[in-house]
Amino acid sequence: MNGAYHVPVLAREVVEGLVVDRDGVYLDATAGGGGHSAAVLAALGPTGRLIAADRDPEAVAETRQRLSPWGGQVTVIHGDFAALRDTVATAGVPALNGVLFDLGVSSHQLDTPARGFGFREEGPLDMRMDPETGESAATLLARLAEADLARILYDFGEERQARRIARAVCRQRQEQPVATTADLRRAVERTHPERLTKTLARVFQALRIAVNGELVQLEQGLRAAASLLLPGGRLAVIAYHSLEDRLVKQTMGPLLLGCICPPALPVCACGREPAFRRVQVRARRADAAEIGANRRSRSASLRFYERV
Ligand SMILES: C[S@@+](CC[C@H](N)C(=O)[O-])C[C@H]1O[C@@H](n2cnc3c(N)ncnc32)[C@H](O)[C@@H]1O
Repeated sequence: MNGAYHVPVLAREVVEGLVVDRDGVYLDATAGGGGHSAAVLAALGPTGRLIAADRDPEAVAETRQRLSPWGGQVTVIHGDFAALRDTVATAGVPALNGVLFDLGVSSHQLDTPARGFGFREEGPLDMRMDPETGESAATLLARLAEADLARILYDFGEERQARRIARAVCRQRQEQPVATTADLRRAVERTHPERLTKTLARVFQALRIAVNGELVQLEQGLRAAASLLLPGGRLAVIAYHSLEDRLVKQTMGPLLLGCICPPALPVCACGREPAFRRVQVRARRADAAEIGANRRSRSASLRFYERV
């Protein structure tokens, strides 16, 4: 596996739970460095197919190269969750046996200072997963009202000092633009948080979610994936923080419901059947050995849903 780009999390568990038919068609909606994609392909038979998509052009290039040994069994496409239906249509596939979402950013994105996702090294405050689209974090920070920034930090970072930090950022930008990761870090440090690293992680996470519209994208992606799955097909989602995990449960929850008649009705009149079932009630977590080898896996939470 190409550990330099990204080490896939819970790879064995993903393959075991996702590949229900070795000759089926699968979509990896978050190809990254192609690690999960390669593991899925290795489990497929000669007629099995995989579509690998990512909104980051660097990830698409990496995945294309990594998966080239599988030739015509693979289609790699540049596309985000909002365009998931188009991605699948472009690959010429009517329906899917499995879809994987391994959420968030890859180690490569996080560890490349020029992408602006990390606070440990200095780089331009960009944070766009697709650098060709949308507004960078620096542009966002230059134009947001203080109250709107505070809301982003609170809603997407669950940061309790959101208002103080927003005030510090706005004060700093009066002196000079908050244009680099180090500028943002300095503004946060000015608030003297009790646990600086955790606070920085929450602030950077919140901005990243806002810049990339991550939660809206996730909901759209899950709905599109759910509508494309064949009966018996599986959806696998790896979430890394509570906002993602909560949204997965909220979006999939209504699809698990059967009859919605009032309890007083003696027989069912709605005839509604659940569209999905949960494969396991509890999320799968990485074991101690995996966490020891790959720290990123410590917060991973893997859920499977099966189309009924
Ligand atoms: C955790 S990494 C995936 C790593 C991958 N599973 C592997 O084994 O290398 C998440 C990837 O999802 C992509 N991504 C995140 N949100 C996306 C979205 N809304 N649409 C498409 N790709 C997205 C990111 O660009 C990143 O490359």
